[in-house]
Amino acid sequence: MNVLVIDGHPNLARSVANSTILAHQTQQTNWSINHVAHFNGDIKVEQDLLLRADLIVVQFPLYWSTYPAVLKKWVDDVFTYGFAFGPDGSRLKDKPVLFSITAGATEDSYSESGFNFLPFDAYQAAYEHPFRAAEVNIVDTIITFEMNANPEEGGDQANTIALAHTHAKSVFEAINQLAETYA
Ligand SMILES: Cc1cc2nc3c(=O)[nH]c(=O)nc-3n(C[C@H](O)[C@H](O)[C@H](O)COP(=O)(O)O)c2cc1C
Repeated sequence: MNVLVIDGHPNLARSVANSTILAHQTQQTNWSINHVAHFNGDIKVEQDLLLRADLIVVQFPLYWSTYPAVLKKWVDDVFTYGFAFGPDGSRLKDKPVLFSITAGATEDSYSESGFNFLPFDAYQAAYEHPFRAAEVNIVDTIITFEMNANPEEGGDQANTIALAHTHAKSVFEAINQLAETYA
């Protein structure tokens, strides 16, 4: 199975959680990583990568309850009419996609009365929009909360790294199970 990871982190040099997760993913044979922060505007290259993938992992840190701007820009540019949507449907139709998300906040903060205003699934519906429009098959969402490595913001680096290892293992197991289903 050809597993494609779309890395939506804007600056891995400053990342703790995503860089730890990606370090695991880089070690997997048959997995390739596409860093959207390096996107050079060649839309066809990106579309071909998506078409060649058997399974797609969309990996990103939650910023303002959605994906970072670099990933939004990549989606805006790559999910074009005639490719991701339009009268002839989508060329990504039924492609299995797994969302793998790191979040700094607590899970409890995602509620009407909480710090983040809405239940997480309300934000999820918004960021999934282009993928739903493209009729991909969203097979799973793996999100880990409290991945805050910055002590000045009440975070803990060692704990974030430990959570990232566990997160990477969960993604790996989910993909392995899916690979059996889609083989
Ligand atoms: C601009 C910005 C916005 C953020 N917004 C949120 C948010 O809305 N919800 C949340 O849980 N965490 C939020 N965070 C925290 C990040 O999700 C967290 O730092 C990140 O997942 C850790 O991954 P990293 O170490 O790979 O950067 C935000 C962080 C930044 C820099």
